[in-house]
Amino acid sequence: MTKGIQFDASGKLTHLLTLEGLSRQALVEILDTAESFIAVGEREIKKVPLLRGHTVVNLFFEPSTRTRTTFEIAAKRLSADVINLGVSTSSTTKGETLLDTVRNLEAMRTDLFVVRHAESGAAHLIAQHVPKHVHIINAGDGRHAHPTQGLLDVFTIRRHKGAFEKLKVALIGDILHSRVARSDIHALNTLGVKELRVIAPKTLLPTAVEKLGVVPYTDIEAGLDDVDVVMMLRIQRERMQGAHIPSEQEYFRVYGLTPDKLACAKPDAIVLHPGPMNRGLEIDSTVADGPRSLILPQVTYGIAVRMAVMALILGGREEPLGRRA
Ligand code: NCD
Repeated sequence: MTKGIQFDASGKLTHLLTLEGLSRQALVEILDTAESFIAVGEREIKKVPLLRGHTVVNLFFEPSTRTRTTFEIAAKRLSADVINLGVSTSSTTKGETLLDTVRNLEAMRTDLFVVRHAESGAAHLIAQHVPKHVHIINAGDGRHAHPTQGLLDVFTIRRHKGAFEKLKVALIGDILHSRVARSDIHALNTLGVKELRVIAPKTLLPTAVEKLGVVPYTDIEAGLDDVDVVMMLRIQRERMQGAHIPSEQEYFRVYGLTPDKLACAKPDAIVLHPGPMNRGLEIDSTVADGPRSLILPQVTYGIAVRMAVMALILGGREEPLGRRA
């Protein structure tokens, strides 16, 4: 449903709502563009003039540390103006109010909305209602999608492990409630990983998970055997109704990533986590802070990836006011 509106008539990216249906070529173009922005973050003056005169609105209806901040830094490094709005979910839970909020911000001649919302489909709904010169990036909608996180995860893997075709990748933890898992799965399958596994108790796996193109494991040691990349997921307590895990101690004992369990993966396997981490629940500090962890580099790469997405969407378009003439 969503992919049709992500590109304009000329084939240029106009919204980024999901990675589902994005071609390998489109993903690689974003990753290559991100690679070119890494250097900007390493300079003394970390700024390029690409989006001068554009206004980006960070519209966050759910809490965020990394995503909101890295979008803001990314926009500023591209010389855009940035407005940050954290909107309490209690005042805007349903479509009409959400659209009204956006319409008001749009009347201020803003160009790009980065939207996070607890409802799956919120960013898509907004994208359907904004005029052509306004663009939407989904920064996480419910359990549905978190496309820039998926992109920064595959960017990290490509930088540290090279060709996707050679790689066995395992996602571990709360697959059921995770929008990151869904975006990772779409990206990794499109980019052609050799094998994609998900490891979780049955209660945290969606039904018919195989249909997503993954091999499910409930035994973490079997699932980790010989993998190159271990992607941890946070236990999403805020999205759980009822008991999905027996107790935190029991979950950590069986599914927490400890050095002993990581020893089942390849000796040079890398470890990723989108943050925020629950230390001692899904991951042991020895692993999180250990030599195979790329958890902090992921955050750094997230800036370049978000710069790439914003540059591909807004860059090379007419001057903001000219578009409306
Ligand atoms: C993720 C999210 O919000 O979906 N975090 C993030 O963007 N860095 C994952 C999570 O909250 O577990």
